[in-house]
Amino acid sequence: MAVVGIVPAAGRGERLGSDGPKAFVACGGRPLVEWSLDVLESVCDRVVMAVPEGWDDGSEDRVVGGAVRSESVRAALAAAPEASIAVVHDAARPLVTRELVEACVAAVRSGWDGAIAAAPMTDTVKEADPERRVVRTLDRSVLWRIQTPQAFAADTLRRALDVPADVLAAATDDASLVEAVGGSVRVVEAPPENIKVTTPLDLEFAAALLRKRS
Ligand code: C5P
Repeated sequence: MAVVGIVPAAGRGERLGSDGPKAFVACGGRPLVEWSLDVLESVCDRVVMAVPEGWDDGSEDRVVGGAVRSESVRAALAAAPEASIAVVHDAARPLVTRELVEACVAAVRSGWDGAIAAAPMTDTVKEADPERRVVRTLDRSVLWRIQTPQAFAADTLRRALDVPADVLAAATDDASLVEAVGGSVRVVEAPPENIKVTTPLDLEFAAALLRKRS
């Protein structure tokens, strides 16, 4: 049962305002993606990364990503036909822990099609119309903020990703595509530090947490 890590790292990171791709900006003294690679490599049999055009080095563990995130995931998964479990993890979450990856993989081994890292909702959440008039207040006790890692039965993920480009472009995570093909997905509570680096402030925060950890 090969467990393969899939790292979409092909985004340009425009919201970060960096010179190069977000996955390769320095964070805590090394390229951002390397923190995630270390953790995934400690759990998975192999890790395949989707990188921007010009960042592939000819190795079989690096493929050129697509125009949108899910296309990058599909390209990386296509390079790992041996995978029976795929663990998708964004380069943008350097504080992932080995325990969290293992918990997601264990849930898939126990029979779930997908197991995804998530944080309970601590803010009150409201729905607003286009004029920003509040329509309703949602019950936050059943809501989760979804993150990565997301582990899947690889064949189910392959089937879920076999959809037209516009469907892939609209998907904000891989689990939603697995749900759409009828897959069973459960949430796994993530530690609070599993933050996503999107803005320069996130980058500073992540670097401080990584320094504290090491
Ligand atoms: O842009 P966002 O932060 O949502 O991207 C999440 C992850 O998806 C990042 O690690 C980014 O590098 C990756 N990505 C990708 N291919 C794209 C767009 C984003 O691999 N075309």
